[in-house]
Amino acid sequence: MLKTTDLGYWYQDKQQPLFEGINLEFEAGQSYAIIGHSGTGKTTFLSLIAGLDRPKAGEISLDGKSLSKIGLTTYRRHDVSIVFQAYNLFTYMSPLNNLMTAMAITAAEHAGDRDYAQKILEDLGIGADLINRNVQRLSGGQQQRVAIARTMACDANLVVADEPTGNLDEDNTKEVIAQFQRIAHDQHKCVIIVTHEPNVADQCDHQYRLENKQFTAVS
Ligand SMILES: Nc1ncnc2c1ncn2[C@@H]1O[C@H](COP(=O)(O)OP(=O)(O)OP(=O)(O)O)[C@@H](O)[C@H]1O
Ligand SMILES: [Mg+2]
Repeated sequence: MLKTTDLGYWYQDKQQPLFEGINLEFEAGQSYAIIGHSGTGKTTFLSLIAGLDRPKAGEISLDGKSLSKIGLTTYRRHDVSIVFQAYNLFTYMSPLNNLMTAMAITAAEHAGDRDYAQKILEDLGIGADLINRNVQRLSGGQQQRVAIARTMACDANLVVADEPTGNLDEDNTKEVIAQFQRIAHDQHKCVIIVTHEPNVADQCDHQYRLENKQFTAVS
């Protein structure tokens, strides 16, 4: 589904790439964890596959078509759903309106269906008491779950998440990972998660470690 070809990226110094010559394939229906030390370039890699930035070398393609050909704006709107720790949600809206708006903007199959959005939020523990509250008045973990709910409500087949359990306690971490596995296995989407937590990575179907500018499969 998603493929990187000789992918490389550096910020200032071409001689000091974060990673280079990366050839990876990510399939629908599978979940992937990306692990590695702080500062190795995991978030940077996610920003490339999320279409937020362009590769410095090589390319990324979705179902055989390069992202530059698809156009990053179109790609971000229709093909990828992002759960980042910061700039996650429409901050001036409620959880319910975050989902409704995201479904409308992306012209999702369930656009306009409030019951559908509410059910997804409820399944993630955002009940009737929270559903209409401004998201800025929710805890970090609750906001994180609204971001995940939004991903489930929209049709994008690729879901990328940067430290999605970073704000969560043990029980919520388990629940969120279970939801990501459902997104992959039941919704047949491709889920790519950056995480520092070994127990989170272990539950994904595949793991890659970013180290010495390369991604290595962890068995
Ligand atoms: N906009 C930028 N300009 C220059 N250098 C940057 C920029 N953003 C990140 N970097 C540097 O690039 C390297 C990789 O950053 P990145 O955020 O991708 O790491 P990471 O693997 O996600 O780390 P962490 O696990 O701490 O989140 C770091 O050394 C960082 O300081
Ligand atoms: Mg990071």
